[in-house]
Amino acid sequence: MLQPDQTADTRASLRRRLPDEAATAALARRLARALEPGMVIWLEGGLGVGKTTLVRCLLAELGHVGRVKSPTFTLLEPYDLPAFPVYHFDLYRFSSGHQWRDSGFTDYFGGPGVCLVEWPQHAGPDLPGPDLRIRLDFADEASDGTARWLALDAHSASGERCVSAAAES
Ligand SMILES: Nc1ncnc2c1ncn2[C@@H]1O[C@H](COP(=O)(O)OP(=O)(O)O)[C@@H](O)[C@H]1O
Ligand SMILES: [Mg+2]
Repeated sequence: MLQPDQTADTRASLRRRLPDEAATAALARRLARALEPGMVIWLEGGLGVGKTTLVRCLLAELGHVGRVKSPTFTLLEPYDLPAFPVYHFDLYRFSSGHQWRDSGFTDYFGGPGVCLVEWPQHAGPDLPGPDLRIRLDFADEASDGTARWLALDAHSASGERCVSAAAES
């Protein structure tokens, strides 16, 4: 089982500086076009770094119209979209693998839905491993607080296709 701190079998990677939110949105649009049914995507990085913002942009590109609520309290927000369902998890409030097992959320994995998981490290070792890991970090310095470092790491063929799509500019 892949843990967030391990560098296990990374098949392709991309590192980018995103100077502002528009850059994050543009990246998300490229990524959205490469998503495939059944993918598992982990979203890592601290509070307020932009994980939910990136998910909002993905959902918009996939045809979602309307609000995107952060699942901070509900833990899961499902979206029935034309291409495939999307399940957006926020596991920040989980503190043990027991909670993950008791939640029954495993049932959402392995089907046609794309699972986007914020705070995957809070689920413990039974969380299904990712096709793609997305990590955001606050960057610098000169910007007015909007710059981010983006790291994409692919762990499967579908993840690799996402990295390739994201790398196009
Ligand atoms: N480059 C950027 N990418 C993403 N969000 C950004 C960026 N610059 C500023 N922001 C702002 O940072 C905040 C990120 O919040 P959110 O997406 O909820 O973070 P998280 O889900 O990681 O806790 C939003 O208010 C967003 O407008
Ligand atoms: Mg969030």
